[in-house]
Amino acid sequence: MPALSAWGDVDTTMTIEFVLNGTPRRLQTRPDEWFLETLRERCGITSLKDGCSPQGQCGCCVALVNGVPKTTCAMRASVAHGKHIVTLDGLPAAERRQIADCFTAAAGLQCGFCIPGIALRAKSITDRDPAPSREAIARALDGHLCRCSGYVKIIDAIELLAAAKRGAPIPAPCSDGRVGQPLARLGGAQTVLGERAFVDDLSLPGLLHGALVLSPHARARVLRIDTARALALPGVRAIATAADVPGERWVGLLHADWPCFVAAGEEVRCVGDVLAAVAAVDRHTAREAARLVDVTYEVLPPLLDAQQALAAGAPQVNPRHGNLLEHAVIRRGDADAALAASAHVVSGRWQTQRIEHLFLEPESALAEPRADGILHLRTQGQGIFEDRRQVARLLGLAEDRIFVELLPNGGAFGGKEDLSVQGQAALLAQMTGAPVKLTLSREESIRLHPKRHALAMDYTVGCDAEGRLTAVRARIVGDSGAYASVGGKVLERAAGHACGAYRVPHVDVEASAVYTNNPPCGAMRGFGANQVHFALEACLDGLARQAGLDRWEIRWRNALAVGDTFGTGQVLEKSVGIRKTLQAVKPHYDAALREGRAVGIACGVKNSGIGNGVEEWGKARLVVESDSRVALYNGYTEMGQGLLTVLVQFAVEATGLSASVFEPRVDSTFDLQCGQTTGSRGTLLSGRAVLAAAAKLRADLDAGHTLAALQGRVYAGDIAVRDTTALGAPVAKIKTHTTFGYATQLVVLDAAGRVERVVAAHDAGRVVNPALASGQIEGAVHMGLGYALTEELRCENGMPVTFKLKELGVLRARDMPRVEVILVEEPEPEGPMGAKGLGEIGLVPTAAAVASALEAFDGIRRTTLPMKDSPAARAMSVGFPLGAK
Ligand code: FES
Ligand code: FES
Repeated sequence: MPALSAWGDVDTTMTIEFVLNGTPRRLQTRPDEWFLETLRERCGITSLKDGCSPQGQCGCCVALVNGVPKTTCAMRASVAHGKHIVTLDGLPAAERRQIADCFTAAAGLQCGFCIPGIALRAKSITDRDPAPSREAIARALDGHLCRCSGYVKIIDAIELLAAAKRGAPIPAPCSDGRVGQPLARLGGAQTVLGERAFVDDLSLPGLLHGALVLSPHARARVLRIDTARALALPGVRAIATAADVPGERWVGLLHADWPCFVAAGEEVRCVGDVLAAVAAVDRHTAREAARLVDVTYEVLPPLLDAQQALAAGAPQVNPRHGNLLEHAVIRRGDADAALAASAHVVSGRWQTQRIEHLFLEPESALAEPRADGILHLRTQGQGIFEDRRQVARLLGLAEDRIFVELLPNGGAFGGKEDLSVQGQAALLAQMTGAPVKLTLSREESIRLHPKRHALAMDYTVGCDAEGRLTAVRARIVGDSGAYASVGGKVLERAAGHACGAYRVPHVDVEASAVYTNNPPCGAMRGFGANQVHFALEACLDGLARQAGLDRWEIRWRNALAVGDTFGTGQVLEKSVGIRKTLQAVKPHYDAALREGRAVGIACGVKNSGIGNGVEEWGKARLVVESDSRVALYNGYTEMGQGLLTVLVQFAVEATGLSASVFEPRVDSTFDLQCGQTTGSRGTLLSGRAVLAAAAKLRADLDAGHTLAALQGRVYAGDIAVRDTTALGAPVAKIKTHTTFGYATQLVVLDAAGRVERVVAAHDAGRVVNPALASGQIEGAVHMGLGYALTEELRCENGMPVTFKLKELGVLRARDMPRVEVILVEEPEPEGPMGAKGLGEIGLVPTAAAVASALEAFDGIRRTTLPMKDSPAARAMSVGFPLGAK
């Protein structure tokens, strides 16, 4: 074996030898190469994922190095020299099957991006300890991050694996696809084993790799972009700048105010702005070339405060729109008079923070020019048809010249609604005539995609002597950053949900979304509702105290019921589940009080369906392909929430066929343009479309036709929702939303003020799949606790101050309390078989419930998120720089 003489010398390669899954390997590597790159790029081991390299903080890239789990992204390739490396691919078939079965049977995966790393860790944990406790498992998962699951079912899966290794039988993953059954997630076993390819796992003959040049400044004039040095680098095939865009350079979901490339002579408006994109023969060369693109800036003072951006004379941040992006107003009755006449009034300012989605799979797209002239775009966006529309405009092509396909999406939570890298990848593919894959690093991902809005909220809320709410007045300002994204709609939802799940006769609410030079803010799970619930629920607690009422009781007295008016003015006619959720938590609440525990309570409401006058669709096609296979196409995205599994359950229920017959697909074979998977509407709308298509198939089956006889038949289901009304529209009957999800959550603290337990009661309309539904809530509670206590994306001069995952504050397994999910059903007549969306409501009340519990613990009402000064936050293992607690 040659000596590693080239180590430290960047001009030479070096040879390393190691044993990979039992096979000796001898490879040339670069001295600066991380071992994850060696395994993925040189050895083709894609079961190891790249979630944060080279931070070593997400665990997606874990391999066994001489039998010990190691994060390979933080380990130089040279360190592997002489070692034995094992990945999931190298385990015996029976062991692989055992691991996959345990995770799928326990529903221990959602998007699945984190799972192969965790699965290998699970092997290691259970090899060392045949009966690990849940606490020990959680501690052993310290090096892993899951953004979807809240870890509850992951730990269930590892307990199951330990039991299986002790000889206990593994319950078979559920194959009963009827509605109400816990059908195992489709494709679960392949996902667990890392065999289901995400975009960045793909390779094609002649594949080129892309890299972006991002602005280091939040505001600057671009004087010159010089690509000469980069183009001269061997291996570089093309460099795209604004001048190369053949179509419309400005993109955007609602406002075309976001340039895919900023041109020389223009201003950059945030640190995620793209100046150039490089295509090269490998990723390393592409990134090296991107560093060689010379951009000359005239740095300008950034506008970083929303109030200052609204001041007269403030520079205009975005050339396509004034600094006030959107202003939403709701006025009903006479709030001033009602507040003046109220027996009790609470007022104050609440402030929430900007946070990062931190989906585990960074943005990636692969564009491939096909021989037939069609551009095949593989994306993991939240709306593939929206991706196609915007990329077609960018390239100046008709939409039917692009075939778009959804690959597995490793989490999104709203952060993949906007175009990210799809446009640049497509342009580079056009320029080179070769397939181009463009994948962001974690730092680039954080700089580029929109965040959750920081909101400043001034609230005044009154009630009468019996605690019945009289009025809500709220003034809300949101920092939307440099581009519109859907920021205006987030503030519109904040206004619409400002009165929460309560009956309020007098309402005076204004909400403004404002452009600044901060990172853009847009959709994120909860979409404005989380923020206003943090403020409103605090007011409820304050009013309860003033009125001498119990906190549960004041909520019960004001909770919405059928016939009541929601904050937007909509009279609710059906499926109002808030009272059922309050009843469901009551025994737990009373028991906690009896035990003298600090307990917090908060209610929540969240629209299901975009509503507010937007026309919405559900579109599905069932294609009979053989006597045992029916392809199920739909227009919405699977991103870990389980939509495709749930849609199969509707198809099973309607046709009587077994779940294994159906194969879901999301691509543009049919024109199923539905817009983004957003607003908790996938199940609501696509479920109805699938039921409509499946009813037609069922009719043919009932008429005596076999699937074989029906081969080639296409059954269409298209439903449209056109009856919602815009906020503030002068209409006789206000119906801002099709329906709403409701929830009540309790947070119980221990004697030291740490979060010990969360009870989450949620109205699902109809529970289609209890395992997936409870998994959604557990994961959302995890996100809500982080939001409450530790998560924050602080920026200085418009640039995030850290990109380290642990400092961003997403909770680890050891930080999670016990979560008890209670699913209640208040059927929704406009939903498929009574169902409605669950995707967002899970964390709407969580931060408020935590604040309520903390006040019960130490008497301090915290009005700013995250509540890092609290004992609950200080007990967490993340969210603080080393030594800063
Ligand atoms: S990719 Fe290695 S720990 Fe995140
Ligand atoms: S399942 Fe863990 S990150 Fe999605």
